[in-house]
Amino acid sequence: MTFSTLAMSIAESPTLRLNEQARLLRERGEAVIHLGIGEPKNRAPIPAILSASAKLSTGDIKYVPTDGLPSLKKAIIRYTEENYDRLVAPENVIVSAGAKQSIFNIFYSILNPQDEVIILAPYWVSYPEIVKMCYGIPVIVRPEDGTFHPRFEDIERVVTSSTKAIILNSPNNPSGIIFSDDFVAQIVDFCERKGIYIISDDIYHKLVFDGKRPTPAWKFTNKDIENTKVIVVNGVAKTYGMTGFRIGWAIAPRKLVEIMTNVQSQVTTCVAPFLQVAAEGALLGLQSVVEQLRLTIQNNRDVIMNELSTFTGVKCVKPEGTFYCLPDFRAYNADSVALSNFLLQRAYVVTVPGKEFGMEGHLRLSYSGSVKDVTEGIARIKWALDPNSPNEIYIGDKKMVRDWL
Ligand SMILES: Cc1ncc(COP(=O)(O)O)c(C=O)c1O
Repeated sequence: MTFSTLAMSIAESPTLRLNEQARLLRERGEAVIHLGIGEPKNRAPIPAILSASAKLSTGDIKYVPTDGLPSLKKAIIRYTEENYDRLVAPENVIVSAGAKQSIFNIFYSILNPQDEVIILAPYWVSYPEIVKMCYGIPVIVRPEDGTFHPRFEDIERVVTSSTKAIILNSPNNPSGIIFSDDFVAQIVDFCERKGIYIISDDIYHKLVFDGKRPTPAWKFTNKDIENTKVIVVNGVAKTYGMTGFRIGWAIAPRKLVEIMTNVQSQVTTCVAPFLQVAAEGALLGLQSVVEQLRLTIQNNRDVIMNELSTFTGVKCVKPEGTFYCLPDFRAYNADSVALSNFLLQRAYVVTVPGKEFGMEGHLRLSYSGSVKDVTEGIARIKWALDPNSPNEIYIGDKKMVRDWL
């Protein structure tokens, strides 16, 4: 049997793999705490559910336009005007099955084989794999040790005649930091002069804390939508906690949207219409649900920072958005894969190894669950690693005794 070399080189999504491991442990009756998961626990907004059920109950669920239902595109245009202060045309918008597919469509439509895409570490695990799937080469730029802010000079240094795009994700998964305005402005100015696409993955732009907000990359260009190199990606997954609805979108020059539409038409035809109307319901419904979610997550961020601050040796940069943090665990184990496995096997806590995000020695912890999950999860990690913590703990109804420190 032979397979595609390219396909075989694509890594399994570590978060999906960990979900599966957690599910299997839970099935065995273990009291697993999932600090790996990248989705809020809220229920989908009521207008989303009502719109989807109304559509489903018509029984008329057929193919719809590849680039998205006109009514959803209208809602996205309104969202874009309200949140980005940009008026775009329906021809600038393409709806896909999640922001992940939007990003795939973009890379598939702009890259030629061996074109390079600059990815800033720490990065979302899927970026390098998607670039590779589109025959491109991921070029990773790392920040200086102890910070999550890459330096503009380091980006400039890796640009070659093959550089096609850079991807910006602020607030950032996995670190939770927001890039400074000066940094984004420098990148946009530089890339537009060089003809390099700037893909702004804004999927977490509403989940921000302490009054901070990332300034949209579009603010730093005075080019119109047809001429700018800035492409915006967004979706309902994180803002509304609608991960399972699989609705994301891209906003780009018409010509690029046209190409992406052709690509999508040959892969998935269209996005399920009842899921599209659900997204429309969320976008047009009461936005207080977003604020409620934001406040819950900000509170969880405060709780996890507080818990981590009592952990000798663990350093953590305070997240400004998202529902992740990326503490440095090198004082305990510099091998994040081994550490994450150890914590799952001994303490039944799911964490994601920093190595997967280009940041070895760190673990990504999600605080999108409940306060109880966060406090109990960190208590278990402390028990497993910190010799100063009590050596007995209850996990579920089992008393566990630490005998390895
Ligand atoms: C940075 C980033 N971009 C995009 C996505 C994908 O979003 P969606 O669920 O809409 O495909 C995720 C999901 O975790 C993410 O973290």
